[in-house]
Amino acid sequence: MAFDPMKVRPLFPALNQCINRQPVLFFDGPGGSQVTQSVLDAMSHYLGHFNSNLGGAFFSSIETSALMATARHIAQTFVNAPTADSMVFGANMTTLTFQLSRTISRDWQEDDEIIVTALDHYSNVSSWRQAAEDKGATVHQVRINETNCDIDYDHFNALLTPRTKLVAITYASNVTGSLIDVQRIITAAHAVGAKVYVDAVHYAPHRLIDVQALGCDFLVCSAYKFFGPHLGIAYIAPQWIQALRPYKVEPAPNNGPARFETGTQNFESLAGFIAAVDYLAHYSRTLDTQALTLRQHLSRSFDHYQAYEQTLSHYFIKKLLRYNNVQLFGLPHYKQRTPTFAIRINAFQPADIANELGKQNICVWHGSFYAQGLCEQLGLINKGGVIRIGFMHYNTFNEIDTLFEALDCYLTLK
Ligand SMILES: Cc1ncc(COP(=O)(O)O)c(C=O)c1O
Repeated sequence: MAFDPMKVRPLFPALNQCINRQPVLFFDGPGGSQVTQSVLDAMSHYLGHFNSNLGGAFFSSIETSALMATARHIAQTFVNAPTADSMVFGANMTTLTFQLSRTISRDWQEDDEIIVTALDHYSNVSSWRQAAEDKGATVHQVRINETNCDIDYDHFNALLTPRTKLVAITYASNVTGSLIDVQRIITAAHAVGAKVYVDAVHYAPHRLIDVQALGCDFLVCSAYKFFGPHLGIAYIAPQWIQALRPYKVEPAPNNGPARFETGTQNFESLAGFIAAVDYLAHYSRTLDTQALTLRQHLSRSFDHYQAYEQTLSHYFIKKLLRYNNVQLFGLPHYKQRTPTFAIRINAFQPADIANELGKQNICVWHGSFYAQGLCEQLGLINKGGVIRIGFMHYNTFNEIDTLFEALDCYLTLK
């Protein structure tokens, strides 16, 4: 049975609201997704009843410690980590990455080399560049293949040497939706003894992560991109959890994942994160009464989300290709990508189009989305970047029709 978005849309309050008596169309998912009522309830339930801290002898602290442990287990299941002790929480992906880059770079030296890519969001570039600068290490940036907006694998192979200490790579481009063959990168990097740090922020809402299958050393994502609250999540492979020496407050725990967590955690976001993962698994539970594990339910749900997102992409691309004054970055395929599209129309400024759409409650982003390398290589930096249209599994074909009606005046102008 095909995925029916109408089964999930009622669960999202934001999708069912009107602003200025008009419905709202959210095509801004790559910038942040909407959340379900269950996420809101979980967060307000925690804050309303148990707002506390870890390690106390009283009910609300005991509940908070239990919540922390549950969140680690849920995060373990979400990315298929071998142990919950590999899961670390933080403010967001960027903050976690800056923190981890300081820790990971502690033993870098002048002859060491680091590889980043031009496709990445710069949270996964600047953090490594600045860490390398402190140690006098050299940073190489892999070019993109401009035709398919994938990375240039030949260039990557040419840059990889036994001096490479770390490869920082995105799993999917937050601008063009390109899915990257990270497995191939990891195999090559590990062959020369380099660690691999994967940015799965854009990948996470669309495909189910499996860190054991990937064999990466580090992987980071952000719950607000997959229907949860603002919270960063990092997987650190078991061999690095005790081997690394994170910067930390001295008396704070020095065992397990808590070593990497500075200060008081955002417990209400952990509660919301647990609810978001439960939501992601929920669709599978509606299909039949099979007794499956959470991971199995996630896997079945994601199969449906992915298939449906591909039909949305296919529909969107077919409509888009009817016009010849539109430029789509990356290839016009719908399978090897997330449902995220970067376009420009004629000589129109992306900001002007996004502003007009915004007035009609059609939410799309414009600009370069911190993907500085990609936008520089495509010559888009001084041109206002692109319009980014991103679908989530809660979007519909009707919404795409409405989008094209709103874009019609730009698309048909000669
Ligand atoms: C691919 C990608 N990486 C990293 C980030 C940064 O994530 P955060 O906002 O959690 O720091 C984003 C945010 O848009 C992103 O899309």
